[in-house]
Amino acid sequence: MKRRLVLAAITLTTLFAGQSWADAPLVIKFSHVVAKDTPKGKAAEKFKELAESATKGRVKIEIYPNSTLYKDKEELEALQLGAVQMLAPSLAKFGPLGMKEFELFDLPYIFSDKEALARVTDGPIGRDLLKKLEGKGIQGLAYWDNGFKMMSSNRPMHVPADMKGLKMRIQASKVLDEQMRSLGANPQVMAFSEVYQALQTGVVDGAENPPSNLYTQKMHEVQKHLTATNHGYIGYAVIVNKKFWDKLPADVRGQLEGAMKEASKYGNTIAQQENDQALEAVKKSGKTTLYIPTEKEKTEWRNALLPVQKKMEERIGKELISAVNKATAK
Ligand code: LMR
Repeated sequence: MKRRLVLAAITLTTLFAGQSWADAPLVIKFSHVVAKDTPKGKAAEKFKELAESATKGRVKIEIYPNSTLYKDKEELEALQLGAVQMLAPSLAKFGPLGMKEFELFDLPYIFSDKEALARVTDGPIGRDLLKKLEGKGIQGLAYWDNGFKMMSSNRPMHVPADMKGLKMRIQASKVLDEQMRSLGANPQVMAFSEVYQALQTGVVDGAENPPSNLYTQKMHEVQKHLTATNHGYIGYAVIVNKKFWDKLPADVRGQLEGAMKEASKYGNTIAQQENDQALEAVKKSGKTTLYIPTEKEKTEWRNALLPVQKKMEERIGKELISAVNKATAK
């Protein structure tokens, strides 16, 4: 795997060095792990359309959805090596790079709604976090929204106690690990592309997803129960290889930045609606029963999960968490 990445990186660097702008278009490979028909998939397509038009064909965006090129962990390595130029990993996937602060987005109930979230991603906290990536050879371009997560498994989950003993797939985030342990479940880190099969074969019992991811991966076909816990958030950082980005002619970079701004606006506008439609489709399928917790049960979920914020203070930074709480306070 490593060898393949290094070879790809060398080929790409050679190509880039020898490229004349009058020649063939410059190719930007954009790899991601979800289906085309999701908020991220659609925002990526919109970026392609806008970027190719703004650069008048000088740049070609090749999108590789659904982990067709790389899986979760590999794609970040590939970006750092220059084998792909653009990604949009979920914010939960930056911890293994040493960027633990990004796990603040995984804290249960940290954002009461999308407005609160936007105050963080569009403000100084969001900007500073993207800036921190530069030390890893990564340039952060934008935040893309997906939505709030729900718990699924083959067992009804009305209250936290129902999670006891369930093997739950998580992304590689220590906050998510702690979250599942706080519920008495057994967390298991797994690449997104492997979740459907793991659920089907019983390697894990359940998962947490926004409806758009659950539905487009057909996970609802192998999960009997879904609870609208909305306990945590999934969003993305759109990132590029910094060396590659810095080398672009300034006018092209400017055009791409403009396209990214527009595509982000589009993606963040459709995210909620895409999730609402996916949830409707899940209900209509008749394969999964959706449970909406009562107010009393919602309080139980909150009480079980809120202590995770305190437990993770040391990892994420007490000051950062209080800055987020301050920014999101109504
Ligand atoms: C997951 O692994 O569950 C998500 O990060 C997938 C995605 O990119 O939305």
